[in-house]
Amino acid sequence: RPRVFSGIQPTGGIHIGNYLGAIRNWVRQQDDYDNVFCIVDLHAMTIPYDPADLRARNLELASVLLAAGIDPARSILFIQSDVREHTELAWILGTLATYGELRRMTQFKEKSKGSERVGAGILFYPVLQAADILLYDAALVPVGEDQKQHIELTRDVAIRFNNTFGETFVVPDADIKEAGARIMSLQDPTKKMSKSDPDPNSRIELRDSPDVIRRKIRRAVTDSGTEIRFDEEGKPAISNLLTIYHLFSDIPIPELEERYVGKGYGTFKQDLAEVIVEHLAPLQQRLDELSAQPAEVVRILHEGAARAREIAAAKMERVRDVTGLGLPP
Ligand code: TYM
Repeated sequence: RPRVFSGIQPTGGIHIGNYLGAIRNWVRQQDDYDNVFCIVDLHAMTIPYDPADLRARNLELASVLLAAGIDPARSILFIQSDVREHTELAWILGTLATYGELRRMTQFKEKSKGSERVGAGILFYPVLQAADILLYDAALVPVGEDQKQHIELTRDVAIRFNNTFGETFVVPDADIKEAGARIMSLQDPTKKMSKSDPDPNSRIELRDSPDVIRRKIRRAVTDSGTEIRFDEEGKPAISNLLTIYHLFSDIPIPELEERYVGKGYGTFKQDLAEVIVEHLAPLQQRLDELSAQPAEVVRILHEGAARAREIAAAKMERVRDVTGLGLPP
């Protein structure tokens, strides 16, 4: 079976954008692929943070992923820094990536804009991401739209490496679904829903209680007019809410449009909130159960790291060999 690799940052406040754009697809495709999922703490440290807090966020995110349905019997789940080969390969790939291409990454431009002290880690971020993916010979990388550029860079670097040192890496494809790949902020439909948005009303977090979910949907911005119609140009806010409704209910968007003809935004939002609450309830219950057994989560991550390390170490042996590093094997 082809291998899938994907990663997610332990930055707290995992939201329905992460869920609909990525996590849910990982869960649904578990039987079709050989799966490796990674909590990328080395990426998270590119912005200032509290060390004790990072440990807690790693475990919290692992619990969220397990509660969402990542099954350790079918998927490897581990913390990035527990497999040292990620940093080792990142250095090597960094010698092939160019400053120009890294500087042009949208994420780098956004995170460095207006900032005087830009950490080199932010610039190097996509190189580490390429290492994550290439270490495991992943054929597919299921992600949201915002990661597309980083996967393209990964492909370029893989091709460059193969041309320079001989066929070593699988050149991966991004797996980006048509719906859900870009869930927008509930407060500004021109911006994507984001963990780092200072306004918590802009996102629904997987841990939000039913009342909080209802309140955030009630407060979500809408467009002028009263019609419930999918039109991303003319009605970006309602289109975003329709997309969320569709993904949580599996009801096609045209059917939803029909259902709400002549009904106002109020009714639509009320129903949408209940659909989200209902869908997240089982996940939240499992999350409560897992939070009560942190030792079990730690055990799963230990085992995941051991399995990941085996794959990564074999790949690094080969990389060291073709690049002529160190003593002969
Ligand atoms: P991160 O942690 O920001 O996001 C995790 C996943 O959620 C997706 N996502 C969204 N999808 C739809 N709508 C949104 N509003 C939305 N916001 C986030 C992201 O596209 C992603 O799939 N650089 C990565 C982590 C990473 C990685 C990797 C991913 C590190 N190494 C290797 C894939 C493969 C990131 O910051 O994701």
